[in-house]
Amino acid sequence: MNVHFKSIGIVNTRAMFAAAVKGGFAVPAYNFNNMEQLQAIIMACLETQSPVIIQVSKGARDYADRTLLSHMAHGAVEMMKREAGEKQTGEIPIALHLDHGNSYDLCVACIESGFSSVMIDGSHLPYDENVALTRSVVSFAHLHDVTVEGELGVLAGVEDDVSAESHSYTRPEEVEDFVSQTGVDSLAISIGTSHGAYKFKVGQIPRIRLDILNEIEKRIPGFPIVLHGSSSIPQDAVETINRYGGHLKDSVGIPEDQLRQAAHSAVCKINIDSDGRLVMTAKIREIFSLKPDEFDPRKYLGPAREALREMYGRKNRDVLGSAGRAPEIRRAI
Ligand code: G3H
Ligand code: 13P
Ligand code: ZN
Repeated sequence: MNVHFKSIGIVNTRAMFAAAVKGGFAVPAYNFNNMEQLQAIIMACLETQSPVIIQVSKGARDYADRTLLSHMAHGAVEMMKREAGEKQTGEIPIALHLDHGNSYDLCVACIESGFSSVMIDGSHLPYDENVALTRSVVSFAHLHDVTVEGELGVLAGVEDDVSAESHSYTRPEEVEDFVSQTGVDSLAISIGTSHGAYKFKVGQIPRIRLDILNEIEKRIPGFPIVLHGSSSIPQDAVETINRYGGHLKDSVGIPEDQLRQAAHSAVCKINIDSDGRLVMTAKIREIFSLKPDEFDPRKYLGPAREALREMYGRKNRDVLGSAGRAPEIRRAI
């Protein structure tokens, strides 16, 4: 399938990030792997009139099938337009993004199947190789008006089943050179967030290095910064999972007030996946325990979708500050 994102009503991240830099908020980037997650994201963002980046990892592509997944994303845009018409709210800008692209070929395949934004994650490579790989993706992507996210610094945690034990913070002295040599549209940085459900041990003081963020912002003022690994690990969801038979270890995530602070400064995109996994799992476990005779997937996936929708709406309103920002971005596109 060869399709360009503009033909299906998807937008790239340029206008979203320009508005986010100017308005001191962050655009939510929520991962999805299935229909219920996608519906919850779109409906929550439509209700809160928030721009949104729906993102797909390599693992999600393998799980849900790459062809089906892009058609689902395109269908979600159509659903949003219909719902906006029926409810007489404005439409919201939606970007379709490849999360943690690990090769040039994968980025090209996504661009050719209608993605409007890709991440090329060369953060594990030596600096010069990261620059060369990122630059090659940017050259192809920009021919198609697709925006590109690069990464400098390594996050700890689990991503695509690969676990990085340790992290290394982004070196502020490298960012200017990286951005100018590669031509990327946004930069993911490592300042103490990490992937997955186990970020900080209970008793540890969870703290992201806002001082490094400030230093980076000074060197590339107005340039869109991305925070990965930004789930807050809702403790009520962890408790519910464990009450109904789960065995999650105690852990705390990134405090929402620190995310709020980051969103007010140079951070324009905040990636959240694990919080959705936890909220969804908690609801399904609860239903399985309380209604052991239930076997219609709609009766447990439906409530899980509702719980997700509430969570995403709350994040947009209370943490990222993206609620109500869709109209100004629509006007700018
Ligand atoms: O950063 C990783 C995202 O949470 C995606 O996770 O690779 O397991 O789909 P995944
Ligand atoms: P979390 O695991 O903190 O949700 O991070 C998701 C992410 O960074 C996706 O790229
Ligand atoms: Zn990530």
